[in-house]
Amino acid sequence: MSEKVLMPFNGTLAGTIEVPGDKSISHRAVIFGSLANGVTNVTNFLDGEDCKRTVHAFRQMGVNIRENGTDLVIESDGITSLTESKQPFYFGNSGTTTRLMLGILSGLPFFTVSYGDASLSKRPMDRVVTPLRKMGAMIDGRSDGSLLPISVRGSTLKGIDYTLPVKSAQVKSAVLLAGLLAEGQTTVTETIPTRDHTENMLKAFGADIQTAGNTTIITNKQRLTATDVQVPGDISSAAFFLAAGAIIPGSSILLKNVGLNKSRTGIMEVLEDMGADIQIENEKAISGEPIGDIRVSYAKLKGTVIQGDIIPRLIDEIPIIALLATQAEGITTIKDAEELRVKETDRINAVTELLSTLGADITPTGDGMIIKGKTPLNGGKIASCDDHRIAMMGAIASLISESEVIIDDISCISISYPGFFTDLESLM
Ligand code: S3P
Repeated sequence: MSEKVLMPFNGTLAGTIEVPGDKSISHRAVIFGSLANGVTNVTNFLDGEDCKRTVHAFRQMGVNIRENGTDLVIESDGITSLTESKQPFYFGNSGTTTRLMLGILSGLPFFTVSYGDASLSKRPMDRVVTPLRKMGAMIDGRSDGSLLPISVRGSTLKGIDYTLPVKSAQVKSAVLLAGLLAEGQTTVTETIPTRDHTENMLKAFGADIQTAGNTTIITNKQRLTATDVQVPGDISSAAFFLAAGAIIPGSSILLKNVGLNKSRTGIMEVLEDMGADIQIENEKAISGEPIGDIRVSYAKLKGTVIQGDIIPRLIDEIPIIALLATQAEGITTIKDAEELRVKETDRINAVTELLSTLGADITPTGDGMIIKGKTPLNGGKIASCDDHRIAMMGAIASLISESEVIIDDISCISISYPGFFTDLESLM
């Protein structure tokens, strides 16, 4: 346990930071770099615990991955050069590693066992196991394969036509990855679009993949070709500073090189709706992904309604949006976000408990929360629930709290943002 005591902050936040590389894109850079033939150079890789799990998994299968700070060099002779791991895979806290790897492992000629930490061991895996079994995957595990530990006896898969019953990019990606290794064609349809980094990167690595509307089709047994990947800054990490700049009077922060993929920018639309002062500068594209610099300055905020198709486009930002809502005049309602119940922790409960402890007016619902603002926040002892995004939201909340905030354990922040406090302190 690593407790953190945060004293009340009476200043303003000002300056420029560059948040670390995008978590989703970093995972995928390692995955596709390892499956492709040739040398893949990855720059601005997220050196967080979750992405390291993905690196470790491919090293266990014989891929040569060299790290130099946030640069990676991945050397592979392609899918057929991977070898069976002698040891089980430990995926720590990483749902993305687990679900995407299960898609790949199902189609490789190996026997594997995967397990994770206490949080990951509670998270539903049937959402990937069900479609993978339809493709012919031989998977077993706790609770009939719905919970880790899970074993896979890799086999010859056949393509499927699958409509996602959950709003999940991880499930979509697992099926597409299995489709890459399967016989025939795999079609995945989603009712509400989720992040499309897998599709973008498959295209960048030369895969034959077609997207029309909400449907993606991938054909089988393809050879991927290595390509360099420059990882954009993670908008989900930038979100903490977007919120801090918006709620601390007098603040003005510039966030450089943030990923602005439309499937991830729901937070920007919510900030605009709430009346925040945000501007985007220097827009350009790197490695098939749009990026730009975001300037945020303090402004008076008002409540809003967040529901429907926007939810997958800001799902990871809801904890920090809830904090924003406590500082907005009026009511903010968040609906259709039942997926929050199965994240690193039940984020509806965790957010409600944390913000209530600090004096906010927040009511949980089955699929979201209702927050009445604006309320001053007092200090208190809060629980991160071992969830990086809850811990960082608590740290930003402490900046506007009237007395000391103690977070019970901040070690989880290294999952996605190891330098979080260094960046925060540089703006104080
Ligand atoms: C991710 C997808 C999202 C997100 C997670 C990363 C990804 O999960 O919450 O942090 O990289 O595909 P779901 O797809 O399960 O909603």
